Amino acid sequence: MDNYTGKRLDGRYEIQEVIGVGGMAVVYKAYDNIDDRTVAVKILKEEYLANEEFRRRFKNESKAIAVLSHPNIVKVFNVSYGDRLQYIVMEYVEGITLKEYIEQQGKLGIKETVHFTMQILRALQHAHDKGIVHRDIKPQNIMLLSNGNIKVTDFGIARFSYSDTKTMTDSAIGSVHYISPEQARGDTTDDRADIYSVGVVLYEMLTGQLPFQSDNSVSVALMQLQSDPKRPRELNSSIPVGLEQIVMHAMQKNAKDRYLTAAEMLLDIEEFKRNPTIRFQRDYFVDNDPTKFVPKKPNVNTIPTQQTSYQNTNQPDYSDFEEEEERSGKVDLLQLVLVSDCLFLRCLFLYFFISSPMYSSLICLLYLISSVKIMKQKLQAVITKKILYLS
Ligand SMILES: Nc1ncnc2c1ncn2[C@@H]1O[C@H](COP(=O)(O)OP(=O)(O)OP(=O)(O)O)[C@@H](O)[C@H]1O
Ligand SMILES: [Mg+2]
Repeated sequence: MDNYTGKRLDGRYEIQEVIGVGGMAVVYKAYDNIDDRTVAVKILKEEYLANEEFRRRFKNESKAIAVLSHPNIVKVFNVSYGDRLQYIVMEYVEGITLKEYIEQQGKLGIKETVHFTMQILRALQHAHDKGIVHRDIKPQNIMLLSNGNIKVTDFGIARFSYSDTKTMTDSAIGSVHYISPEQARGDTTDDRADIYSVGVVLYEMLTGQLPFQSDNSVSVALMQLQSDPKRPRELNSSIPVGLEQIVMHAMQKNAKDRYLTAAEMLLDIEEFKRNPTIRFQRDYFVDNDPTKFVPKKPNVNTIPTQQTSYQNTNQPDYSDFEEEEERSGKVDLLQLVLVSDCLFLRCLFLYFFISSPMYSSLICLLYLISSVKIMKQKLQAVITKKILYLS
């Protein structure tokens, strides 16, 4: 294996240790002496330097990803395309890959899965808006920080097709489990290829299993083209129907039957988050229990339904406390401003009457006393609300 440990690249990046080895590159932890920060340096393996196709990918696509800037995307700082060395310098992520996390946990909880999927989709939405398709979404390319934040890496670097999988090394064969049927065929791909892969990642998070498994990458690619996966609820009956529908919609074989955009899929996930018992209107969806079959209604995207088995399990609480807290704080501040403003006006009123005849001053004094009473009540209400909220 190439080893650059202890070397300094371009007089700037001090290579410290190997972090991981992928299909076409080795990733190192390094220190950037100019910008004074720890970075990750991904160096193209020597055997691929002579491969014009790999060099072209590395060069063209790493240029494109440098324009991406999103909290859920690993930032690319620099790219070098020398004849003897090609590397990408990126944000160093202190965490583990989603693949490692799934392997540790077996399968993930619903709340966690939803949280991760939303972040992956937000990253994709940003990239797709800029015309960049990832083409290699898999849990190995998704980094997980200890605070639950997700960072997607390797945007647009790999363009996998069925023919690629025949020549790839073992570590890259992992990709074939997540590629869309059109990628498996070697057809041209667009944003919807990423949607399919997110569907597979979601399937794996919920069930702890891959939809298509075989030791042989060619068989897996053929299954992506022809076979129907087991439905997630057959493997884990606690998965809510609505979430299973989202997985199956993302994993449709024909790209035009899937979510058309990451934003569209995100909307359904958000809808599910609000209402975990939801069932979506999808014509491909057939409930095993015919009495619960939901007929298709045009122009109706979602409907709330009766109890499902999910409600008997530990139903996650999705209330968004932080946003509520922010809103509540703003209202209180507004009320305080209004109350103090009112006090100021009434004092001003009193000042104008101070030098007036006796009776005017008397009326004014009564007016001020009543004002103070009202303000006291208002202030009391604001303070009570604040105390209730804090407790
Ligand atoms: N920015 C980063 N910060 C920290 N660790 C990283 C970073 N990027 C990659 N890694 C680590 O390096 C490992 C290898 O990454 P790499 O992208 O080369 O391989 P891969 O994704 O498994 O395969 P492929 O070549 O198909 O992308 C990852 O599994 C991850 O542990
Ligand atoms: Mg990778």
